[in-house]
Amino acid sequence: MKIFKSEFIKSSDDYKKCPKEHIPEYAFIGRSNVGKSSLLNMLVNNKKLSKTSSKPGKTKLINHFKINDACFFVDLPGYGWAKSSKFERLKWQKMTQKFMINSSKLSLVFLLIDSRIKPQKTDIKFSNFIGTNNIPMNIIFTKTDKMNKKGLENNIELFKNQILKSWKKLPDIFLSSSINKTGRNKILSHISKINNNISYK
Ligand code: GTP
Ligand code: MG
Repeated sequence: MKIFKSEFIKSSDDYKKCPKEHIPEYAFIGRSNVGKSSLLNMLVNNKKLSKTSSKPGKTKLINHFKINDACFFVDLPGYGWAKSSKFERLKWQKMTQKFMINSSKLSLVFLLIDSRIKPQKTDIKFSNFIGTNNIPMNIIFTKTDKMNKKGLENNIELFKNQILKSWKKLPDIFLSSSINKTGRNKILSHISKINNNISYK
C-alpha cells in the first residue's frame, strides 16, 4: 500500500460525532505512551500528522485521519496512565470503548504493546474487552529498536501465553519501531489486503 494522501479530518469526544463517511476504519489503541501516534505517523510517512509526546496522556480524543481517500486511521487516547485523575481515565476509557463497540465501519483494531516490558494486566484486560465484543484485533509490539532479540522474543512469548488463557487462537502479530520504520511494509500491506476486500453498500 503506497500512501499518497493522508489528512487530518476530525477530533471527536463522542462516537456519535465521528465522521460519517462510510469507509473502513483501522484504529490504534494501547497504554498511554506505547507509541500509537508515532506508529500512525511512521505508517503515513509524516512525523507531524498526529501529535506525539514523551509524556503520557497526549492523545485525548478520537482522531480520524483519512488515508488515500480509501479508509480512516483512528488514533485513540491511551489507557492506564496512573497520573491522570480517575475521572479523566474513566472518561477516556468510556469514550474509546463506546467508539469501538458502536462504530459500524471499524474493520480492525491494532492493540499496541510495549515490547520492552512483561505482560501488563491492563493490556490483557483490554484485549479481553476487544475479544468479548467480537471486534477484530491484531497486536503490534512497539519500540523494538530498544530491545535485543532475546529479550524481545522472551516478552512476546510471555504475552502470547497470557493471551491464550482467554483467546482460542493467537491474533496476527507485528513488530514495529517508529524510529527505524520496522513493520511499516507488513502492516500497510495487511491493511491494504483487508481494505481491498471490503465493499460497503
Ligand atoms: P498517548 O497519546 O499519550 O496515549 O501516547 P501514544 O501511545 O500516542 O505515544 P506517542 O506516539 O506519543 O509516543 C510516546 C513516546 O514514545 C514519544 O516520546 C515517542 O518518541 C516514543 N516512541 C514512540 N514510538 C517509538 C519507537 O518505536 N521507538 C522508540 N525508541 N521510541 C518511540
Ligand atoms: Mg497519542
